[in-house]
Amino acid sequence: MTTTFEQMWADLAPVGRSSRTGGYFRQPFTAADDEAQAWFLGECARRDLRVERDGFGNVVAWWDSGGQAGGPGLLTGSHLDSVLDGGAYDGPLGVVSALAAVDVLRDRGVVPDRPLGIGVFREEEGSRFPLACLGSRLATGTTSWDEAKGLRDRDGVAVADVMDGPQGDPGDDRAGSALLAGVGTFVELHVEQGRDLVDRGAAIGVATGIWPHGRYRFDFTGEPNHAGTTRMEDRHDPMLTYAMTVLAANKQARLSGQRATFGRVAVRPNGTNAVPAEVTAWLDARASSTVDLMALVAEVERMAVDRAGRDGTDVVVTPESVTAEVVLDVELGGRIAAAHGWPLVPTAAGHDAGILSSAGIPSAMLFVRNPTGISHSPQESASVADCLAGVEALADTLALLTSGGRP
Ligand code: HGY
Ligand code: MN
Ligand code: MN
Repeated sequence: MTTTFEQMWADLAPVGRSSRTGGYFRQPFTAADDEAQAWFLGECARRDLRVERDGFGNVVAWWDSGGQAGGPGLLTGSHLDSVLDGGAYDGPLGVVSALAAVDVLRDRGVVPDRPLGIGVFREEEGSRFPLACLGSRLATGTTSWDEAKGLRDRDGVAVADVMDGPQGDPGDDRAGSALLAGVGTFVELHVEQGRDLVDRGAAIGVATGIWPHGRYRFDFTGEPNHAGTTRMEDRHDPMLTYAMTVLAANKQARLSGQRATFGRVAVRPNGTNAVPAEVTAWLDARASSTVDLMALVAEVERMAVDRAGRDGTDVVVTPESVTAEVVLDVELGGRIAAAHGWPLVPTAAGHDAGILSSAGIPSAMLFVRNPTGISHSPQESASVADCLAGVEALADTLALLTSGGRP
């Protein structure tokens, strides 16, 4: 007995949800994320899907319809992990819709002419470890195990402490995992993170590409001192340098039409009556081109260093997670969009589809309208009608691509 989209959505909704904010805390390899993974495996078992895993926490559930002629598989799916206090749709909508789309195809009597899989990639958000799309980067070999295994979360837990690592011959460190070896095409459905579809009055869109973006750690160091007895002119306050850098980043992004966000900061010793010793802050920068991204980050860094010189503090900037511009497969996306007259839209949000695309797997993304455009927030939303339209759109797309569609 299978489960409807609404039932699956209701079953998943409480997993990792904060009763205080209504947001989600499904950080990878925590109890909440493990519970979400277990939910997914249960739904795969209901559908007799053949589950494969890799040593990086990623899962693919295959529908071996028996009718396929073999050949490169068509993969859909997304992620179940969330940002801190995230919304319900970013990631899970693509996974629940994939399961529901398989049901639709089976109800229609569609027999795919090649393997059809549903993938769930781990740590897409990079909310625990410093590298976004960690699972799909490791699965594709975009990031090697050596580069990732020592990355640590805020409690000092290393990636190698929560992941098994490469299975089989670790000889070629950039080999990725065999999980995606049989994948010829990837189609990810995702809630739109923005208002493009709302402004167009469209429920479904097809992504054209992903802005280049990165995360840069700023380490500001100064001279800890007494908050009362230290004259203002005698201070070397890293909080001041940090604050001026935030203002500078905001101004630069506005002037250049790009994006700059300092959303995370840590202060040491974080005392109320002391000038701090250190401030560590993370800049999330995004731009419509690689040149503009580099220029934005370079200018913010230049202004931070200049300010540090005036404050008698120091600043060191370290890139932690940089993603190059992604142009999704034009022919594939164009074909999907043309089949239904869906609009083609860009995004400044990163996705596993971007990693797979950059790794050479022709990829496409379907977006489902988000009425407010809000994401990475408990306020993220999508209407049931649009979600169900997304299931049909994904089913139509999977049918299009497994009936003599491109490999
Ligand atoms: O941060 C992003 O753009 C994505 O949601 N991981
Ligand atoms: Mn996402
Ligand atoms: Mn996200």
